[in-house]
Amino acid sequence: MEVPFVDLSRQYEPLLPAIHAAMTSIIKRCAFINGPEVREFEEHMARWIGLPGVCGVSNGTHALYLTLKALGIGAGDEVITVPNTAFPTAEAINLSGADVVFADIAQGFYNLDPEAAERAITSKTKAIIPVHLYGIPADMDSLMNLSDRYNLFVVEDVAQAMGARYKGERVGTIGTAGCFSFFPSKNLGTFGDGGAVASGDTELIKKVRVLANHGRLDKFNHITLGTNSRLDTLKAAQLSICLNHLDGWNQSRQKAAALYNNLLQPYEEIILPRVPEDCEVVWHLYVIRYRNRDELMAFLNSRGIKTGLHYPIPLHRQPAYEYLKLKEGSFPRSEEASREILSLPMFPMITPEEVETVVKAIVLFLKTRKKTY
Ligand SMILES: Cc1ncc(COP(=O)(O)O)c(C=O)c1O
Repeated sequence: MEVPFVDLSRQYEPLLPAIHAAMTSIIKRCAFINGPEVREFEEHMARWIGLPGVCGVSNGTHALYLTLKALGIGAGDEVITVPNTAFPTAEAINLSGADVVFADIAQGFYNLDPEAAERAITSKTKAIIPVHLYGIPADMDSLMNLSDRYNLFVVEDVAQAMGARYKGERVGTIGTAGCFSFFPSKNLGTFGDGGAVASGDTELIKKVRVLANHGRLDKFNHITLGTNSRLDTLKAAQLSICLNHLDGWNQSRQKAAALYNNLLQPYEEIILPRVPEDCEVVWHLYVIRYRNRDELMAFLNSRGIKTGLHYPIPLHRQPAYEYLKLKEGSFPRSEEASREILSLPMFPMITPEEVETVVKAIVLFLKTRKKTY
């Protein structure tokens, strides 16, 4: 049996009639830009997340970039984040004009180490961007403590963790703002690119909204220089329909992750993802670690099991960040993880049979490998 890495069509199939109807109505009205569905989605998401302010934007990268801009962060400032994240997390810092400062991940986890973050703080530091990587919450208590002590903004990168909870609170509601991506394969995805910023600070959300719409307050008055980063009406309508299903989809991911955990538990060569205490994980990705990752990946691929790497090159080793002159060895935990991580098939409609097929193939690989030594 072949197993896809992600299959979105299974989750959209039953929703297509509702999505078609919503889109047909928008097309008939030609309400493509800033149609009422955009505000409806923002209000829906605000209720879902429990915050007063949400602004839809064109993608997750701009959610981060516009939030930093709205916070007044720019040239001469520093923003701390991890090197083991999607490129856009750091790119958004550069887009704002601030400098990226990397700090390593915590031992045994994939998220920012608060002690490493503290060591990276200088008089220029204005914000920290913790990434809730793979849908696993970062250590928010310790990071909020740093924020209080050093007077720093905390901009949560929630691109991979919509719906995850840290000590009962949804991630994205704990820091200054939460930045979301609706890239198609995210836990809540759209038909193309999309994103949102959520915050308890409604003035901040107003600023993001102005910046995302060419710096204007109304049709003809531009009070600042912004950009075009609006969420399209068609996407907002689809997102609103899908948001009703997000919690259920996340529960399906949790069931699949529990099955993987259960079936892989006996094989100590495979390092399973750790869930921090008192956290609810939404498994955007189910990532194992294995010393000979490339061999295992090739074996699974040869059997029609698709896997992914998130991410094989830590950002400080990317050519784009060569100018930072950060050598191999600068962030040993992120570097080690990048060599050993392997993302297994994970999506809401994955079947137990598919998870079992993946695990059986891993077990077969481990057995054949042992025999050759
Ligand atoms: C952790 C993280 N941050 C930011 C982004 C950027 O989001 P987008 O692709 O919507 O610009 C992504 C998505 O790729 C991501 O995974």
